[in-house]
Amino acid sequence: MTEPFAAVDVIRAKRDRDRLSDEQIDWVVDAYTRGVVADEQMSALLMAILLNGMSSAEIARWTAAMIASGERLDFSGLSRPTTDKHSTGGVGDKITLPLTPLVAACGAAVPQLSGRGLGHTGGTLDKLESIPGWRAKLSNAEMTRQLEEVGGVICAAGEGLAPADRKMYALRDVTGTVEAVPLIASSIMSKKIAEGTGALVLDVKVGSGAFMKTEEQARVLAQTMVRLGADAGVNTVALLTDMSTPLGLTAGNALEVRESLEVLAGGGPPDVVELTISLAQEMLETAGVSADPERVLKDGRAMDAWNQMIAAQGGDPSAELPTAKHTHQVLAPADGVLVSLDAMAVGMSAWRLGAGRSRKEDPVQAGAGVEIHAKPGGEVRAGEPLFTLHTDTPERFEQAEAALEGGYQIAPQGSRPDHRPLIIDRITV
Ligand code: URA
Repeated sequence: MTEPFAAVDVIRAKRDRDRLSDEQIDWVVDAYTRGVVADEQMSALLMAILLNGMSSAEIARWTAAMIASGERLDFSGLSRPTTDKHSTGGVGDKITLPLTPLVAACGAAVPQLSGRGLGHTGGTLDKLESIPGWRAKLSNAEMTRQLEEVGGVICAAGEGLAPADRKMYALRDVTGTVEAVPLIASSIMSKKIAEGTGALVLDVKVGSGAFMKTEEQARVLAQTMVRLGADAGVNTVALLTDMSTPLGLTAGNALEVRESLEVLAGGGPPDVVELTISLAQEMLETAGVSADPERVLKDGRAMDAWNQMIAAQGGDPSAELPTAKHTHQVLAPADGVLVSLDAMAVGMSAWRLGAGRSRKEDPVQAGAGVEIHAKPGGEVRAGEPLFTLHTDTPERFEQAEAALEGGYQIAPQGSRPDHRPLIIDRITV
């Protein structure tokens, strides 16, 4: 097959800040997926995009080309409307676990295709795989059946969905080209649009534990993604939410499942409950379903939907969750008020304990992670535990404890923490 373009010309165009044509974009994404454009050429193009940016029209075309690289699921035949949530990732972000069954129990269908964790943020599939027997891989037919019968499914994205993104994301990870708004927005939205959801709520995280460290960057990313969703006919809204401190009181796979079960049982940390309810309200609204998620969470219907979802994928919802073989407590050095607790420090500590992976083929420890005993604003006493570290491999404790050093501040009694609301803003088209 003769190729209509040469990769080097496309790279030069972006290097020189020209706009790429629709034809150049369609070709380069397709040719990279076919293996005609080499990794080193795509790396150079991705770096040029990171440095020189893309117009809205280029981002929309790039996203469409990534969707066209694979299959597009279609759930329009279901009896319930579909809606999904995507978080840009953070520490202790287990919200998908209580949220999916909650929204399903309210009457919508949630086709949640998730990934595994890389680096300091955890992956939803890693968390669920700590449940004995639970299986992440479903066929499209199994997924459709579960959506019709239970209303919610969380499973691994199949190989056929946006294969261009799969290849490109792995390359971005090792070439310093992850942190570019056009690339993050097109990567996330191509997968969500290809997944076939009718509506989408984006949880765009801001702060030390997130990709986007400033509110300004997060706002641009949210606006870009909301526009891409709307242009593709997916009713999309975004919440900007705080990720300067971890969500809830746990970071680590089985630890986070346990905390999610507390939320589904009507308890759990207030920040996790608040975000779960707010995102559920947004998802139901975007799907046009009228229900009261707060009541459905309290009266046990969300827990019933969780049990059905887990059982439908081979898991035993009543089985004991794995625990780590060793624990170690980190004690407060002084009396006072905890005025800050840095999400990145906790995420790095959990990762060093074995909860996360450095390379995508690494295994994770189901029981590893950090349990947090005080959140910003809480009083602490010298000698009392601030954190409990969990791992199967105790030689990791020293490095995990070092990751927490400087990650929290204790100020005299009466001090107040720097306060940012959990939900910072709501972005629509
Ligand atoms: N998550 C994705 O799926 N893609 C990105 O580029 C960043 C986060």
